[in-house]
Amino acid sequence: MKKINIAILGLGNIGTGTYKLLEMNRKHIEQATDIDFQVKWILEKYTELDRGIVVDPKRWTQDPDEIMSDPCVDVVVELLGGIEFSTKLMIDAMNAGKHVVTANKAAVAANFEILTETAEKNGVLFRYEASVGGGIPLINAITTSLVANEWVEFFGILNGTTNFILTKMTEEKLPYDVVLSEAQERGFAEADPTADVEGIDVANKLSILMSIVFGKRVRPEEIPTTGITKITSRDIDDAAKDNCVIKLLASAKKVGDEITCSVEPVLLNKKHPLSEVNDEFNALFLKGNAVDDVMLYGKGAGPLPTASAIWGDVIEIGRSVTNE
Ligand code: HSE
Repeated sequence: MKKINIAILGLGNIGTGTYKLLEMNRKHIEQATDIDFQVKWILEKYTELDRGIVVDPKRWTQDPDEIMSDPCVDVVVELLGGIEFSTKLMIDAMNAGKHVVTANKAAVAANFEILTETAEKNGVLFRYEASVGGGIPLINAITTSLVANEWVEFFGILNGTTNFILTKMTEEKLPYDVVLSEAQERGFAEADPTADVEGIDVANKLSILMSIVFGKRVRPEEIPTTGITKITSRDIDDAAKDNCVIKLLASAKKVGDEITCSVEPVLLNKKHPLSEVNDEFNALFLKGNAVDDVMLYGKGAGPLPTASAIWGDVIEIGRSVTNE
């Protein structure tokens, strides 16, 4: 059996989910791929935390150079979050000839060009499926099965935390703060949940999607963005009286050469399929000039759904490398 060594940078919620998924599904992955995936290194300061996993002490490191200079490492999986340091490590990894997988939408949205160009320059693969829509294979669907389409518009729910908050405020009449704490406990929210509730996380994801769908680079800070912090229980009740729900929507539309985009809370009629996308689920509607309407739906946040997308990328790279 061929072997692929990976290094995980950061063992937070998503890093731990990524490690656990391999423990949970190792046999299945080996049978499906005929590849033995091994976690060779974990870059992490807090090695003593109880994460409910067993890690061989030899695997921990606090020195990124130990990973970059190890010729046995095939794939670096960046799950640190943040922008500058994580981008630097991804670039270092690519310059060291390693393939890179990340779930870090803030870093991908901020540094899309340099990351994709560095990967190309070094002849390595760079994959970031988990950065948009958690476990939903959005980027893969758009860049493979649906690639023949020219896109007219897309819109959707791209943040699990805010969708969870709005759902619980609507259905269980729970207060905002209580629901936000639950979203944090379940591992949906960002380290600083301001990015979720102010719509910044969705703007990052929309920026990445626009690069992929329309081939147009729009920086997250250029996207008109409103979060959910000003939504009150009264707004939710008023919406219900009009047979509507409030959802935080990302949207982008192409008219001629012009592309408009926004992130904002929107009133959706209860007959609209997106009104039924609840809790941490996300969904994206796309309109293509051949396929017409497509809706992709699934869990947009949480350790295991996100790990599913991360492993999809790692396995794709593993297959490609072992077939060379
Ligand atoms: N904080 C993000 C969310 C995580 O709630 O959707 C997944 O990107």
